[in-house]
Amino acid sequence: MSKNILVTGGAGFIGSHVVRRLVNQYPNYTIVNLDKLTYAGNLENLRDIEDKPNYNFEKGCITDETFVTGLFKKYKINHVIHLAAESHVDRSITDPLIFVRTNLIGTANLLNCARQAWNGDYDGKLFYHISTDEVYGSLEMGTEMFTETTAYDPRSPYSASKAGSDHLVRSFWHTYHMPTVISNCSNNYGPNHFPEKLIPLFINNIVNNKPLPVYGKGENVRDWLHVKDHARAIDTILHNGQAGETYNIGGHNEWTNIDLIRFMCDTVDEKLGREVGSSQKLITYVTDRAGHDLRYAIDASKIENELGWTPDYTFEQGLAETVDWYLENKEWLDNVTSGEYQEYYDKMYNK
Ligand code: NAD
Ligand code: TYD
Repeated sequence: MSKNILVTGGAGFIGSHVVRRLVNQYPNYTIVNLDKLTYAGNLENLRDIEDKPNYNFEKGCITDETFVTGLFKKYKINHVIHLAAESHVDRSITDPLIFVRTNLIGTANLLNCARQAWNGDYDGKLFYHISTDEVYGSLEMGTEMFTETTAYDPRSPYSASKAGSDHLVRSFWHTYHMPTVISNCSNNYGPNHFPEKLIPLFINNIVNNKPLPVYGKGENVRDWLHVKDHARAIDTILHNGQAGETYNIGGHNEWTNIDLIRFMCDTVDEKLGREVGSSQKLITYVTDRAGHDLRYAIDASKIENELGWTPDYTFEQGLAETVDWYLENKEWLDNVTSGEYQEYYDKMYNK
């Protein structure tokens, strides 16, 4: 059946990969990309598909009820994939309120606009909310993993705002019987990742011989998944996920930050023909992030067993391709790190 899909945050990192995949895979679907184009949103990410007949872009804010309601009418929206968010933990520590406005109030507004537009007729409808493993809190070192039934324990303003938005989504399923689904994913990496997050920031700094600011002792652990594997998981859940369910998505690919940073140094050294290991001298230990979660790890067996999704990329292949992408796309990097973002970037990283 054809779908008219409202993708929010489609100009961002993960959203642009989701939009590209849907536009290319499903020419009979109508894809509407709603994005405010904050510092993190960039239409350059979608140049290759922007002229396709099934792609539409609408600039606006997810908190704007009149605007969102108009989109439901204009495009007869029957599916929502909600990615728009403020997404960076460090920013949530310096400016928590924008996270509440966008992630919590924005999600509430989208849900309510969908409820009003669909008016109790939920046949062929789905509200799919994209969330993070950070809602589950922080794990100790060891083998324990987050499952779909792990109790929520968010600890940063970012993860708290995402946890609140997940609760709101579930409340619309239980209260109004609106078909909703949620997926909680681990840390993504890949092309078009904004260079304030660990992997793209550090690739950029290694290339430019700038210091690599490692928070604390670099012992924190993250599970890394290639963004194209995440986009394929989202496609799978969109088509085969069960309403009312939650799916964890992860890479079974845990790294301590310091091991990952050393690996990035060596990968970039090799690509640039430098002596392998020489960039490790850029590693600079800095004050730890406030409330820094120690470890995230995802048990992704539900999506594997029920929907047959597993990651395609090995980390070695994915990271090597990502480094290549940043080396080949210097213009993209210059563009996103200029203008509005430059001041923040300079303050944070070029002290
Ligand atoms: P991003 O910061 O790269 O992109 C966010 C996008 O949302 C941008 O295009 C921005 O312009 C848009 N946006 C922000 N506020 C908006 C508003 N008020 N109205 C409309 N558009 C707005 O984020 P990302 O890393 O691509 O993450 C996308 C989603 O996936 C988020 O919901 C995030 O919580 C979730 N997620 C991210 C990761 C990760 O590793 N990056 C992991 C798991 C889940
Ligand atoms: P980040 O990419 O911000 O993702 P998240 O905080 O959502 O997991 O950070 C990944 C890890 O890298 C996290 O443990 C914090 C650490 N980190 C640094 O050590 N230095 C940095 O400059 C950044 C941005 C992150």
